Amino acid sequence: MNVAVMVSGRGSNLRALVSAYDDGRLDPATSRIALVLSNVADAPALAFAEFRGLPTQVIPHGRDRHAFEAAVDEALRTHAVDLVVLAGFMRLLSPGFVARWSGRIINVHPSLLPSFRGLHAQRQALEAGVTIAGCTVHHVDAGTDTGPILAQAAVPVLPNDTEETLSARILVEEHRLLPLVVGQLVQARHD
Ligand code: GAR
Repeated sequence: MNVAVMVSGRGSNLRALVSAYDDGRLDPATSRIALVLSNVADAPALAFAEFRGLPTQVIPHGRDRHAFEAAVDEALRTHAVDLVVLAGFMRLLSPGFVARWSGRIINVHPSLLPSFRGLHAQRQALEAGVTIAGCTVHHVDAGTDTGPILAQAAVPVLPNDTEETLSARILVEEHRLLPLVVGQLVQARHD
């Protein structure tokens, strides 16, 4: 199974996926990262992918969403991608694009969906005063962070939490959950 990881920034979830291949939680015999695709040329995620010798491609989002998505679609097809993982990919994708990749595109989001969709989910959680936060891996559909949930992990919100401390606690769970779900999807395809 060929996995594409789409990134825009830091790339810690990409690192977590690569670590899972390194330590055997993901089996390179059944899946591999076939492409790391970024809309941001200087994303640290991209530098990491290059350092690890992964195939990379930069497609700047520019002003024309249609042209951007056509280029992304072509890149995914060129690399025979079976599963697209949005790992800190910070652009909304159009309903048309998502429909073409329906069932084959997943996202990791730093909240217990359906709470706190969109940007700054951890800040939203703190402002709402919840005592439990977490992360979700879900199928991507035409809405923003609305697709069917695949897996979730919860963490406590502690009294003195800041956006940074809560984000860091959630991120630990993202790094565990994302490879787990990718492994389950690979397994399901082989069953
Ligand atoms: C992660 O916390 C991810 O859940 C979030 O951006 C961060 C990317 O970190 N994604 C979203 O908020 C998408 N709605 P990373 O680049 O270190 O993986």
